[in-house]
Amino acid sequence: MARPNPETISPTAHYTGYVWFAHGQSHEAFATRRGRLMYQALRGPNMIAQAANLPTLEGMLIARHKLIDLRLGQAIERGEIGQVVEVAAGLSPRGWRFRRRFGDRVTYVEADLPGMIANKRGILAELGGETRHHRTVEVNALVDDGPASIDAICASLDPAIGTAILTEGLVNYFDTPTLLGMWGRFARALRRFPRGIYLSDLILRENNGGPLVTGFSWLLSAFVRGRVHMHFDSAAEAEDNLASAGLAGTLLDPREFSAALPDLERVGAGRVRIVEAIASRA
Ligand SMILES: C[S@@+](CC[C@H](N)C(=O)[O-])C[C@H]1O[C@@H](n2cnc3c(N)ncnc32)[C@H](O)[C@@H]1O
Repeated sequence: MARPNPETISPTAHYTGYVWFAHGQSHEAFATRRGRLMYQALRGPNMIAQAANLPTLEGMLIARHKLIDLRLGQAIERGEIGQVVEVAAGLSPRGWRFRRRFGDRVTYVEADLPGMIANKRGILAELGGETRHHRTVEVNALVDDGPASIDAICASLDPAIGTAILTEGLVNYFDTPTLLGMWGRFARALRRFPRGIYLSDLILRENNGGPLVTGFSWLLSAFVRGRVHMHFDSAAEAEDNLASAGLAGTLLDPREFSAALPDLERVGAGRVRIVEAIASRA
């Protein structure tokens, strides 16, 4: 089990890192001790919720991860995308999995704040090290320019190759003006490529509100210490805001992908949507 510096990893990143490992999506090197302890602590409540057909955090996390994988993999298979920047990658094993699946057909850049990316570098070193096609970089998604900006990272890539920016488990930490600022930055950074795709999870109010405080909503707020921002009531409102940021997007419901993703926990999957957007060309 990896021994990164736990203080530089958010609790949720520890937990999701372990959920992916527990579900066979990851390598032991991405699993932390703290993640395992959190996973074990939530296992009982999750099992009770599952037995009662209530949504679980685990079900939601797996649904969002697998649908982003599916849509990204399809865009690569279609030849639209050959470069990926995963912003706020945390302990995500996706870069490692896509490298194994696509080899040098894809350049995969894992990006995060400096403390987190130092951990990722240590983990990748255990797994054979970084390559020209799978590497890490420091990013701050909230800055417009400078070496850690998304614009500088995209400027270092091949402008002739379609590129995807991903975020997972990030946007609901930001308030609405911060989110819209970040989406605008992503749209501008992607414009230089023949195809620019943005994929992200997004939690909407309409799927998670109501007077009844479900176990899931309570757990979600407790888990991220009450810092969840639900910016939009509906998919239509989210799509309008994406469009005004320069991203022509649709919100995908993981439950509608049951043919490709048959094993999702439906109630948990229903709590999250996946943004799939195309940046308008310059
Ligand atoms: C909850 S974790 C999500 C990590 C991973 N994607 C997942 O799903 O588990 C949030 C991540 O966002 C990163 N982060 C927070 N603020 C950021 C920023 N301004 N720019 C880039 N990454 C940021 C954190 O370092 C952390 O790795």
